[in-house]
Amino acid sequence: MSDKAIINLEGKPYELPVITGTENEKAVDISKLRAQSGYITFDEGYKNTGATISNITFLDGEKGILRYRGYNIEDLAEKSSFTEVMHLLLYGELPDADQLKAFEYTLTHHTLVHENLKKVFEVFPTGSHPMGQLMTMIAALSSFYPDSLNPNKNPEATNLTIMRLLAKMPTIAAMIQKKGKGHPVLYPQNKYDYVTNFLYMTFGNVSEEYVADPVVVDAMNKLLILHADHEQNCSTSTVRMVGSSHANLYASIGAGVASLWGPRHGGANQEVLEMLEFIRDNDKGDVKKVVAEAKDKKRLLFGFGHRVYKNFDPRAKILKKSCDEILAKIGVSDPLLAIAKELEEAALNDPYFIERKLYPNVDFYSGIIYKALGFPTSMFTVLFAMGRLPGWISQWKEMREKNEDIGRPRQIYTGPVQRPFVEIAKRK
Ligand code: CMC
Repeated sequence: MSDKAIINLEGKPYELPVITGTENEKAVDISKLRAQSGYITFDEGYKNTGATISNITFLDGEKGILRYRGYNIEDLAEKSSFTEVMHLLLYGELPDADQLKAFEYTLTHHTLVHENLKKVFEVFPTGSHPMGQLMTMIAALSSFYPDSLNPNKNPEATNLTIMRLLAKMPTIAAMIQKKGKGHPVLYPQNKYDYVTNFLYMTFGNVSEEYVADPVVVDAMNKLLILHADHEQNCSTSTVRMVGSSHANLYASIGAGVASLWGPRHGGANQEVLEMLEFIRDNDKGDVKKVVAEAKDKKRLLFGFGHRVYKNFDPRAKILKKSCDEILAKIGVSDPLLAIAKELEEAALNDPYFIERKLYPNVDFYSGIIYKALGFPTSMFTVLFAMGRLPGWISQWKEMREKNEDIGRPRQIYTGPVQRPFVEIAKRK
C-alpha cells in the first residue's frame, strides 16, 4: 500500500502523495496543494521543508550520521583524500587509480589565474576581510571566462568550468593570505598534489625551498573532507537558488560564499576562536561568564547548536580527537584548547544546553587546528569555503542536470489591504 497524506481544509479532504527516500525518510508532496485548495504551507526558516530530491549526501541529525554518496564521514576522513572526495561528490563514485590520476591532472593544469586578477587585490584596503575578497575574486572569474557564462551550453563546457573553479580556488585562497601579509604571491607548482600545492602557495616563501610536512598535509585533507558537503544547508541552498535562475557557476558559488560568511553559518569558526581568546584575555580562562551570557541571550555560544544535529555533530567528534593528535604531532601547545574543552564540558552539563539539544558543531574545534597550522583567524571561513566548494558544485550540477524549476518561495502577506492613492499635497 503506497502512503498518502490526507489534509482537511474547510471541511474538504485533499489527498497528497508521500515521497520516500532510500534511507526511509518521508515527505508529503505539497507541490499541487495550492492549485487544488488555494492554501500554501508555511515554514519560516525552512525547518521542515524539503526543497529537492538529492542523491549526494545523507544526514541523520538524531543519530549523528553523515554520509557522502553512502560512505560514512568517519571512513572518508580517516582513509580518503580531499581529491578523492571531490570526485566522489561530483561524479557519484570514488575514483579508481586511473580516474584519480586523470582528475588530478586536469585539476593541476587549471590552477593558474589570469595575471590581471592580481590587480583586483590592489584596490582592497588593508585589513579587508578575506571572505569579501573571495566573493569578489570568484565573481571576477566570470569576466575572465566569458565562454563559461551559459550553464546550458553542453556537459563538457560545464565540466571545464567546474574544473577551472575547483583548480583556481586554492590559488585564490592562498593569494588572499599572501596579499593580507604583504608577501609576494607564489605560483602553483605542478609537482604538488591539490592540498600540498595550496599549503605551498600559502606558507611557502619565494626565497626558500618548501618542505611539506605530512602531518599538516593530512590534517588539511581531513579538515577539507569534513567540510566538503552538508546537504541543503544555508549556503548550498543559496547556490541552488541562484543557479536555479540559470545564473552561471561563478555567480552561484559567489552567492554561496556570501551566505557562508554569516556568523550563524561558516563565519562561526572565526567567532569561536575570537570567543576563546576573549575568555583567555578577559576572564582569565574562566568559561562561566560566557556560558551565563549565552543563557541570558546576550551572546551566542559560537560553535554550539545546529539546525539538524540534535544529538551530536559527527564532524565535531572527529575534530575534537584530531585536535589533540595534530597539535601534539606538530608540537603546538595552545591554552585555547583547554579553554575550549572546559567550555564544552560546562555547556554539556548545563540544563539550558541539554534541554535545547545544543552540542558542539564542526566549527567548535576546527579553528584551533587552523590556528596551529598557521592560518590567521580571518582566513578560517575561506578554508571552510574551500572545503565546501565541491559540495556546492555537486549540488549545483545535480540541480542543473535535473533541470529543476526556478526557486521561488511564496509568502503570507500581512501589510495594508488595498487603499486609494493620496496626492502629496493632501497627505498629512
Ligand atoms: N548559544 C546559545 N543559545 C543557542 C545557541 C547558541 N549557540 N544555539 C541555539 N540556541 C538557543 C536559541 O536561542 C533557542 O533558544 P530558545 O528556545 O530559548 O528560544 C534554542 O537554542 C533553539 O535555537 P534555534 O536558534 O531555534 O536553532 P536553529 O536551528 O534555528 O539555529 C544555529 C541553529 C546553528 C543557527 C544556532 O544554533 C546558532 O546560531 N549557533 C551558533 C553559531 C554556530 O556555531 N553556527 C555554526 C553551525 S555548524 C556549521 C555550519 O554548517 O555552518
